[in-house]
Amino acid sequence: MTQNKKLINWVNEWAALCQPDHVHWCDGSEAENDRLLEMMVSSGMAVRLDDAKRPNSYYFQSDPSDVARVENRTFICSAKKEDAGPTNNWVEPAEMKKTLTEEYRGSMKGRTMYIIPFSMGPLGSRISQIGIQITDSPYVVVNMRIMTRMGQRVLEILGDGDFVPCIHSVGAPLQPGQKDVKWPCAPIEKKYIAHFPETNEIWSYGSGYGGNALLGKKCFALRIATNMARREGWLAEHMLIMGITNPQGVKKYVAAAFPSACGKTNLAMLIPTIPGWKVETVGDDIAWMKFGDDGRLYAINPEAGFFGVAPYTSMETNPNAMLSCRSNSIFTNTALTPDNDIWWEGIGTEIPEGSITWTNHVYNKETTPVAAHPNARFTAPAKQCPVIDPNWESPAGVPISAFIFGGRRPGTVPLVYQSFDWNHGVFMGSIVGSEVTAAAIGLKAGVRRDPFAMLPFCGYHMGDYFGHWVSIGANAPHKDKLPKIFNVNWFRKGTDGKFLWPGYGENIRVLQWIFERTDNAGAADETAIGYVPSKGAINISGLTAVEKSMDDLLKVDTAEWIEECGLIAEHQAIFGDRLPKEMASQFELLKSRLSK
Ligand code: GTP
Ligand code: SPV
Ligand code: MN
Repeated sequence: MTQNKKLINWVNEWAALCQPDHVHWCDGSEAENDRLLEMMVSSGMAVRLDDAKRPNSYYFQSDPSDVARVENRTFICSAKKEDAGPTNNWVEPAEMKKTLTEEYRGSMKGRTMYIIPFSMGPLGSRISQIGIQITDSPYVVVNMRIMTRMGQRVLEILGDGDFVPCIHSVGAPLQPGQKDVKWPCAPIEKKYIAHFPETNEIWSYGSGYGGNALLGKKCFALRIATNMARREGWLAEHMLIMGITNPQGVKKYVAAAFPSACGKTNLAMLIPTIPGWKVETVGDDIAWMKFGDDGRLYAINPEAGFFGVAPYTSMETNPNAMLSCRSNSIFTNTALTPDNDIWWEGIGTEIPEGSITWTNHVYNKETTPVAAHPNARFTAPAKQCPVIDPNWESPAGVPISAFIFGGRRPGTVPLVYQSFDWNHGVFMGSIVGSEVTAAAIGLKAGVRRDPFAMLPFCGYHMGDYFGHWVSIGANAPHKDKLPKIFNVNWFRKGTDGKFLWPGYGENIRVLQWIFERTDNAGAADETAIGYVPSKGAINISGLTAVEKSMDDLLKVDTAEWIEECGLIAEHQAIFGDRLPKEMASQFELLKSRLSK
């Protein structure tokens, strides 16, 4: 198993506190995975799906209170409150540890404590990091096995080295003889997703769902890793990574940050509608980036799987995602058909008669609003993606030519525009806004600022984070090798309330312009907000239906942008004196360009 003293002592301490009936060290083997899944099927927590339709795949329904990330129960416990910043919840670390120690005391009674050694990033890469998660959820174990490189191999690489300790309990101890429920968890006010950035620790309590419980993902690879990246001069971002090859065979990689449920998985696996272009996927959610010896920024995907939004994923919209979850996958909070397959809104077929909803009721068109929860997810191995990039596990990473920001904006923001320079691009990232989605519980509807799509994921003061981005540009070994920066908006609506842009595979047309711009080609007009494609510069051949919408899609309306400036001013004000002066001056420049 392991001789690592720190690890053994740490596990013993937590076992003594949580008092599980058993402690199991996960080896990551198929036999172990099969055993856990069989156990969950026999206890009624999981359903094995039909082996012909969905080989080696399983279905889960969560508790109705535990369906997404809980932002108001997520905490950055830095020593000083001001280091967590105005966009994070903060509790003093010793106080949080005291509260949670009492919650963890005996919290695993009647359960097994699983020890999950995992690597974020390819095993052995210099960019990769090792974590160990303790959990009392077998569901978490089988998901972590897909989402990370997990098991005995990791302990061998760890040796007696250091790791990020991640504690997780669903917070539902069992009394002797007490029957378990299908999805154990604690009530909302007892859920805590706590991060200790100065000591690289994660303590999660009370939720079994997604980013609350699969601690390698948002907790480690973003909230803790943003702190490491800031200290060490690299980037940990909520970004997909994709390779794009043009008809001449030239290949470039780009990374794109959109808020949760705003299209990263879709863009990462897009099937181009224009002939000769090819897209390949490196990752769909998180990018870790460091400068290489040649002065370019190189990105790795720290994950090994996709935890993708199910609703509206279909063979029409995203066939590569559908094929990725064809087998060896886990489905949570979708609907279940009578022949033991999964179904969700927008999958492209009618719901079969007698299907079961995510709340475990028989579907009834009259009385059931939706059969699948809007944040229902599939967990699928990345290597099953038909267009997975040949370099997706390259330990060196892939060189990034462009950063793309975006969000859901029914108005104001054009289909695509480019920054004038690095700091202007950082400013563009800092003002991203988006309509809220179902990926988090309890948010008010409407557009909210979600800088760099990192609002719920930045593990320190967001003003300092903008400053870190400024310093990445200022300290770049070769300024001319920095990625160019763009903003896109697939979600602009017409006066009829319908999307003006067809999206999905057609997004390649926007990527083509971005691709050309990274070579200083592609025609653009200088506007107050940045470079916008000149008339005719976006290739819309064969898309006659959007021809009449192109002016509206690319329009930069001064009145709308002056209104936007009011919102930007409010947004910048919350950072006080930790707003970098470069961001304040970029805002001044924008306002003066608008007033010309
Ligand atoms: P997280 O996993 O939560 O970080 O989200 P994500 O950014 O990977 O989101 P995903 O790709 O799963 O997008 C989910 C939603 O966006 C689905 O409802 C899609 O139908 C919708 N969507 C994705 N791409 C497009 C597009 O180009 N146009 C339109 N109109 N909708 C899109
Ligand atoms: C997101 O919400 O951005 C996700 C899903 O990628 S979760 O892992 O639950 O955070
Ligand atoms: Mn995400």
